[in-house]
Amino acid sequence: MNVRFEPSAGLTGELRAPPDKSISHRAALLGAMASYPVRIENYLHAADTTSTLNAVRALGALVEVRPNEVIVRGAGLREARQPEGPIDVGNAGTLMRLLPGWLAAQEGRSFTLDGDASIRRRPVDRVAEPLALMGANVQAAGKRFPPFTIHGARLHSISHELPVASAQVKSCVLLAALAADGATTVGEPARSRDHTERMLMRSGVTIHRNGRHVTVVNADELVLEHVLVPGDPSSAAFMIAAGVLVPGSRLLLRDIGVNWTRTGFIRILQRMQGIVLGELEDETGELLASEPISDLDIAHGQLEGTVVEPEEVPLAIDELPLVALLGCFAEGETIVRGAQELRLKESDRIATVVDGLGGLGAEIEATEDGFVVSGSGGLRGGVIDAHGDHRLAMMGAVAGLASREGVEVIGMEAAEVSYPGFVADLERLC
Ligand code: S3P
Repeated sequence: MNVRFEPSAGLTGELRAPPDKSISHRAALLGAMASYPVRIENYLHAADTTSTLNAVRALGALVEVRPNEVIVRGAGLREARQPEGPIDVGNAGTLMRLLPGWLAAQEGRSFTLDGDASIRRRPVDRVAEPLALMGANVQAAGKRFPPFTIHGARLHSISHELPVASAQVKSCVLLAALAADGATTVGEPARSRDHTERMLMRSGVTIHRNGRHVTVVNADELVLEHVLVPGDPSSAAFMIAAGVLVPGSRLLLRDIGVNWTRTGFIRILQRMQGIVLGELEDETGELLASEPISDLDIAHGQLEGTVVEPEEVPLAIDELPLVALLGCFAEGETIVRGAQELRLKESDRIATVVDGLGGLGAEIEATEDGFVVSGSGGLRGGVIDAHGDHRLAMMGAVAGLASREGVEVIGMEAAEVSYPGFVADLERLC
């Protein structure tokens, strides 16, 4: 589906962004691993998180979808049922990387995971390696990519340093650790989102963090009664960017998750002199169980270029395409470094962002691990291909509103992966 976005005269009004995708995936998975029913309020019903509900059903959990809540009656920590055929993860990288943590502990059972064309280009060796150290066996096509099969086993606890900062890989190890034979420690080279740790803490698991290391103690069972999913800061980021870029805008975004590990984009934007007000969570030394929320108040303003350093990257990983877009409108240069992980997302986001924005008139260059944008007073407009990547489609739409001549997005339907109703929300605010 191709959709044209004309230059906007300003976005105004209030919006409730869709529920958080990362937290929805985790709530459904922990619900499936739990011993008692879990009530998930404000679950995200989008393509990715529907894949997760279907996956846990196939594994023996009972899922009841009610208005504004989902009840998951779990199969239990060690009781996943071996399904007849492969589990389809669709486009969901988070499902593909977290689920093997649970499945690795299912002794004597095997599970095959597969997904769409984009998923088949995304590496799984990063989870296969730590799971193998714990005693499970994971076999992937061509060693690195889906489809792949997990042969469950009795797991050992490990102490493991992750080579890349990835919340998905960290979470996979933490889930496997629940059924291991002692305490497992995972270290990450830079802090990444910690929703799994917080939710495990609320499930009665013994877990603590010391700097970049998390230690989790094995458990007999999970007891997680209720999860309230906040608004997704990564989905809200598109509206935030639109509000900051389009003159005359003034937006109020309600109940957005402001966990410190997810608000890197807002901090970068504030450094660029963007006007975003809200009660963001501060970085804390200790691990917290709750997920903080805040309203965010956004207004148009003139931006300045900035440098995004490697340790900030995991805290804004899904919003970096928007940093590139903001850079086109900022004074001076905007540089992102240490973001080679972008090449392994739903598309190669260094290539697709640089080609896409370049085609709209941006002065932007790819580097091996990021990009350099020279602010050129905005964007002309034109046509951008989403390449099946939801975040690229939505970035194209925002670019259109802020451009001089408008933008046509090829493949706008990709937005359904994380933000159903995105185009309708934008139209309402314009
Ligand atoms: C996610 C972690 C990030 C992010 C993805 C969601 C998660 O991936 O890009 O959209 O929910 O844990 P990596 O952990 O692979 O960087």
